[in-house]
This record gives sequence, C-alpha cells and structure tokens, in this order.
Amino acid sequence: MIRTIQAGLLLLIFVTLCTVKSGIAVAEEKAASKDTPAAEFMGVDVCEACHEEISAQMLMNPHGQATDSRTPYAHDGCESCHGAGSVHVDEDGEPGTLLGLRRGSGEPVEQQNAACLQCHRDSSLTNWRASTHESEDLACSSCHAIHTPDAVLERSTQAEFCYQCHPVIRAQAYRAYRHPIREAKTICSDCHNAHGSPGPHELIQLTLNQNCYQCHPEKRGPFLWEHYPVTEDCSLCHRAHGSNHPALLTRQGPQLCQQCHQEIRSQGSQHIRNYFGFEGDPPKRGRFIVGENCMNCHSQVHGSNHPSGTNLLR
Ligand code: HEC
Ligand code: HEC
Ligand code: HEC
Ligand code: HEC
Ligand code: HEC
Ligand code: HEC
Ligand code: HEC
Ligand code: HEC
Ligand code: HEC
Ligand code: HEC
Repeated sequence: MIRTIQAGLLLLIFVTLCTVKSGIAVAEEKAASKDTPAAEFMGVDVCEACHEEISAQMLMNPHGQATDSRTPYAHDGCESCHGAGSVHVDEDGEPGTLLGLRRGSGEPVEQQNAACLQCHRDSSLTNWRASTHESEDLACSSCHAIHTPDAVLERSTQAEFCYQCHPVIRAQAYRAYRHPIREAKTICSDCHNAHGSPGPHELIQLTLNQNCYQCHPEKRGPFLWEHYPVTEDCSLCHRAHGSNHPALLTRQGPQLCQQCHQEIRSQGSQHIRNYFGFEGDPPKRGRFIVGENCMNCHSQVHGSNHPSGTNLLR
C-alpha cells in the first residue's frame, strides 16, 4: 500500500517537473527573467538613485510610512509592490524586468492585483473576488494611482473618473432631476462598493431599499398602512441616478400609478366621479387626474400612519 503511494507520488513529482520545465521553455524570455530566482531585493536607496522624484513622493504617501509596520516601507520598500528588482537594476531599467503594475506593462492583471491583495484583503475588499470589476479584468491601478493623486479617493473627482467607463451613468446624472452627484454631495461610493458586494449592482447595502433608507430613513416606516411597492423596491417608481421626471420618477402622472392600478385606468375619471359625484352637462372630466395626478389626493404614496389612511389619502 505504502509503496503504491510512494510510486504514485514519485510519478506525480516527475510529471509536475516535466510540465514546469516545458512551461518555462515556452515562456517568453521576458517573463522568465522576471520570475528568475536570481532577482534579489535591493532596497529603497538603490531605486532612489534612478527614480528620485517618485522616491521623494513616496515619503508623503501612506505606503511610504516606515514607522507603520503594515506598510510596504516597513518591509521591502518599492519592491513590496514591484517585486525584487536586482535584474531591473542590472539591466538599467529594461522594460519587463519587474512588475510595472499598470495596463500595458506586460504581466497578467491577476499578478498585478496579487501584489496589492497581499495586504488589502479585508473590510471593503472582502468581496473583490467574484465582483463585477474583478471579473471584467480590472486591475487595482485601473482606478488607483500610487505615484500621482488618486482620483477615486477624492470626492470631487471620483464621478468623472468612473464616467470614463460608465458614460451612460454620466448621462443619467445630468438629467433634469437627479441625485446631487455633480455637486459631489452624493458620490458613487456612497452607494456602491467598487470592490464588490454581496448585494445587487455592487450596492454597499444588501438590498436596494436598504440603500435608500440610509439617507431617506423616513421612508422605511413602519407604516400603519403600507403601500406594497414601496416596501418591496423603490426602483419600481424611482430611478437611482437621475430622471427627466420630477422626484426621479420612472414616469409621470397617472401613468406611473396606472402601470399597476389597471382598474383605475379603465375607470378613468369615473374613479373620482364615484367618490365626488361630479355631474353636469357636459360633465366635468377628472380634472385632478388630467391636470396633475393621483398624488393630489393620494399624497401619502409611501405609506400612511393616519388611522383612516388606508387609501393613502392622508
Ligand atoms: C540604473 C537606473 C535604475 C535603477 C537603479 C532602478 N530603475 Fe527602475 N527604471 C529605470 C529606467 C531607465 C526605467 C524606464 C523609464 C522610466 O519609466 O522611468 C525604469 C522603469 C521602472 C518602472 C516602470 C516599469 C514599467 O514596466 O512600467 C518601475 C516600476 C521601476 N523602474 C521600479 C524600480 C524599482 C522598484 C527600483 C529599485 C529596486 C528601480 N526601478 C531601480 C532605471 C532604474
Ligand atoms: C503600494 C505599491 C507601490 C509602491 C510601494 C511603489 N509603487 Fe511604483 N507603482 C505602483 C503602481 C500601482 C504603479 C502603476 C500605476 C501608477 O502609475 O500609479 C506604479 C508605477 C511605477 C512606475 C512607472 C510610473 C510611470 O508613470 O511610468 C515607476 C517608475 C515606479 N512605480 C517606481 C517606484 C519606485 C521607485 C518606488 C519606491 C520609491 C515605488 N514605485 C513604490 C505601485 C507602487
Ligand atoms: C505591504 C502592504 C501593502 C501593499 C503591498 C499595498 N498596500 Fe495599500 N496600504 C497599505 C497600508 C498599511 C495602508 C494605510 C492604511 C491605513 O492607513 O489604514 C494602505 C493604504 C492604501 C490606500 C488608501 C490610501 C489613502 O490615501 O488613504 C489605497 C487606495 C491603497 N493602499 C491601494 C493599494 C494598491 C492599489 C496596492 C497595490 C499596487 C497596494 N495598496 C499595496 C499597505 C499596503
Ligand atoms: C472600479 C474602481 C476601483 C478598483 C478597480 C479598485 N478600487 Fe479600491 N477604491 C475605489 C474607490 C471608489 C474607493 C473609495 C471608497 C470609499 O471612499 O468608500 C476605493 C478605496 C480603496 C482603499 C481605501 C479604503 C478602503 O475602502 O479600504 C483601498 C485600500 C483600496 N481601494 C484598494 C484596492 C485594491 C487593492 C484594489 C485591487 C484589488 C482596488 N482597490 C481596486 C475604487 C476602486
Ligand atoms: C444614491 C445612490 C447611488 C449613487 C450616488 C450612484 N448609484 Fe449607481 N446605482 C444605484 C442603484 C440603486 C442602482 C441599481 C438600480 C438601477 O439600475 O437603477 C445603480 C446601478 C448602477 C449601475 C448598473 C446600471 C445598470 O443598468 O446595470 C452602474 C454601472 C452604476 N450604478 C454606476 C454608478 C456610478 C459610476 C456612480 C457615480 C457617478 C453611481 N452609480 C452613483 C445607486 C446609486
Ligand atoms: C476601466 C473601466 C471601469 C472603471 C474605471 C469603472 N468601471 Fe464600473 N464597470 C466596468 C465594467 C466593464 C462593468 C461591467 C459592465 C457594465 O455593467 O457596464 C462595470 C460594472 C459596474 C457596476 C455594475 C455592477 C452590476 O452588477 O450591475 C457598477 C455599480 C460600477 N461598475 C461602478 C463603478 C464605479 C463606482 C466606478 C468608479 C469608482 C467604476 N465602476 C469604474 C468598468 C469600469
Ligand atoms: C448617500 C445618501 C443618499 C442615498 C443612499 C440615497 N439618496 Fe436620495 N437623495 C439624497 C440627497 C442628498 C438628495 C437631495 C436632497 C435635496 O436636494 O434636498 C436626494 C434626493 C432624492 C430624491 C428627490 C427629492 C426631491 O425632492 O426631488 C428622491 C426621489 C430620492 N433621493 C430617492 C432615493 C432613492 C430611491 C434612493 C435609493 C435608490 C436614494 N434616494 C438613495 C441622498 C441619498
Ligand atoms: C409607487 C411608487 C413609488 C415608490 C415605490 C416609491 N416612491 Fe418615492 N415618490 C413617489 C412619488 C409619486 C413621489 C413624488 C411625491 C409628490 O410629488 O408629492 C415620490 C417622492 C419621493 C421623495 C421626495 C419627496 C419626499 O417625499 O421626500 C423621496 C426622497 C422618495 N420618494 C424616496 C423613496 C424611497 C426611499 C422609496 C423606497 C423605500 C420610494 N420613494 C418608493 C412614488 C414612489
Ligand atoms: C408596482 C406596482 C404599483 C405601483 C406603480 C403603484 N401601486 Fe398602488 N398599490 C399596489 C399594490 C400591490 C397595492 C395593494 C393592493 C391591495 O391591497 O389589493 C396598492 C395599493 C394602493 C392603494 C390602496 C391602498 C390599499 O392598501 O388598498 C392606493 C390608494 C394606491 N395603491 C395608490 C397608488 C398611487 C397613487 C400610485 C402612483 C403614485 C400607485 N399606487 C402606484 C401597487 C402599485
Ligand atoms: C380627487 C381625489 C382622487 C384622485 C385624483 C384619485 N383618487 Fe384614488 N381614491 C380617492 C378616494 C377618496 C378613495 C377612497 C374611496 C373609498 O374609500 O371608497 C380612492 C381610492 C383609491 C384606491 C383604492 C380603492 C380601489 O378602487 O382600488 C386606489 C388603488 C386608487 N384610489 C388609485 C388612484 C389612482 C391610481 C389615481 C390616479 C389615476 C387616483 N386614485 C386618483 C380619491 C382620489
């Protein structure tokens, strides 16, 4: 029994060695030199000799604080992120001799991200793997910059940055009625976690309604008389980013309500006549419905706490 296992193990090791070997053989020379065990850590001072400006800037970056034991500078300095640099130094900065960590620098996105994830795995990054952005092959450096100001961390520049890849959202945020995204009073990361989340649409909260309650808590209730669609999903009536209808509504006036209240559509002005007995010849048509809309009477559209608010009238 033990012999069989031993033999199996040996075979496995042999096969693995062969695979690795042929793997290296076909790999680009560039990649091979990057992974070569000969690369050694050189330390910040060596890098500084040729990268003076970046090295000076690093001392003002949170990553450059050597007194904080969690930072790259408390470990291998620049090389905590860029990888061991001796080959790069020997070859006078030849491209592809260490991790460039940005689009076009050669190494796979996964390898770039691994350099950051060695330290950033917790809290907001817990759901990074399986997030939309991860599966779309975004690198950390698609959004973050280390050696230049970080546009996504700064409230006033974040939205414009995200619009580069989300032009449709820009259009929505410039509609007549909208969340104050342009003024940076509400920004993308107030509602979304760009690193992924267990909720829908990468929202920070677990459900869409919980997201809205965060800033509009009075809509949570509890109400004596609920209006079911409100409790279920605010986006049945509202657009999250912006709309051409007042109050970010998906549509206006009676049509909004008549999507679901078909019986009212067929009754038309009869609905009002039933209750208010408009008479005359010609009869006065439902001026409340035509001119304005259902909310003239059903003002408590989000729910009512009035003892007789069952029809959301008060
Ligand atoms: C002998 C000079 C020299 C030294 C020492 C040196 N570099 Fe470079 N490095 C260069 C040159 C030249 C380039 C290419 C031009 C540029 O981007 O500035 C470069 C480019 C880079 C790049 C960009 C690579 C890419 O693919 O975009 C990184 C990252 C880098 N160096 C990191 C380091 C680190 C980390 C160290 C210390 C271990 C270091 N360098 C030491 C000369 C040097
Ligand atoms: C926290 C991780 C991290 C540390 C530490 C770090 N870098 Fe970088 N570096 C990056 C990332 C990410 C990029 C690519 C995106 C960007 O330009 O910000 C980059 C890009 C570069 C580039 C190419 C910049 C360009 O515009 O061509 C150079 C050169 C470089 N780093 C050198 C250094 C040197 C030298 C140090 C140490 C003094 C250092 N880096 C420390 C993450 C880091
Ligand atoms: C050796 C560990 C380490 C590595 C590697 C590392 N970081 Fe960090 N990073 C830190 C620490 C520590 C902080 C400061 C956190 C704090 O103050 O709470 C930080 C802060 C940050 C911040 C917030 C900066 C700010 O101004 O508030 C961002 C963004 C960030 N890192 C991105 C990255 C990216 C992108 C990479 C990969 C290119 C990376 N980090 C690699 C340790 C690391
Ligand atoms: C699609 C853009 C995007 C990508 C890709 C991205 N981030 Fe972020 N990141 C952000 C935004 C936006 C914030 C600001 C969040 C906030 O202020 O609440 C942030 C904040 C951070 C912070 C600081 C505060 C925090 O939430 O912990 C760290 C650290 C960080 N990101 C690391 C990373 C790392 C590591 C990666 C790659 C695995 C990455 N990010 C990829 C957009 C991005
Ligand atoms: C007030 C909260 C809030 C803000 C601020 C916000 N979003 Fe959203 N976003 C949502 C909600 C809720 C949804 C899901 C409902 C929907 O699609 O209308 C969503 C959906 C999305 C979607 C998916 C759309 C689709 O059709 O699948 C993208 C992409 C998006 N948001 C990007 C952004 C960007 C970029 C910003 C910043 C410019 C931003 N959001 C600001 C709440 C917000
Ligand atoms: C480099 C391009 C790029 C950048 C920058 C970028 N995204 Fe995305 N994002 C994508 C792609 C690609 C998708 C998937 C396709 C889609 O839904 O549009 C996506 C999807 C999303 C979704 C929808 C998730 C879902 O499941 O419905 C949200 C929300 C989102 N991004 C928010 C943001 C925010 C907030 C920022 C800025 C901090 C940002 N994105 C920056 C490329 C990007
Ligand atoms: C991060 C906080 C925040 C979140 C989350 C949020 N809102 Fe808002 N909302 C605001 C702010 C701020 C305003 C602007 C208030 C003002 O201008 O007086 C606003 C305005 C509105 C308005 C328009 C009010 C008017 O009088 O025209 C509606 C409707 C609205 N939000 C619905 C929603 C819905 C639905 C959600 C969930 C998808 C949501 N909000 C999530 C902060 C938020
Ligand atoms: C059945 C449709 C419908 C649903 C569902 C709905 N709303 Fe509304 N909401 C409206 C209408 C209609 C208005 C405009 C009221 C007016 O003009 O008097 C409005 C106005 C608002 C306003 C601005 C005026 C105010 O009352 O503060 C906010 C904020 C708001 N809704 C948030 C929410 C939130 C949060 C949810 C989900 C919990 C939600 N709405 C669900 C129909 C709806
Ligand atoms: C997404 C579907 C939907 C939309 C849109 C909608 N409603 Fe409703 N509404 C319902 C449902 C479901 C009920 C509960 C019906 C029941 O109890 O039989 C209801 C009940 C009501 C009631 C009666 C209260 C009760 O409990 O019997 C009134 C009044 C009402 N809605 C008014 C409106 C108005 C005004 C609008 C437009 C602003 C509107 N609704 C939009 C689904 C909707
Ligand atoms: C002039 C005021 C007025 C207007 C305008 C009005 N309603 Fe009503 N509605 C009432 C009154 C009053 C009741 C309660 C009747 C009762 O108690 O018998 C009611 C009851 C309802 C009910 C619950 C009873 C039922 O018949 O199912 C719904 C749903 C409703 N209205 C929807 C609407 C919709 C949708 C609109 C817009 C197309 C609208 N209402 C416009 C006054 C109005």
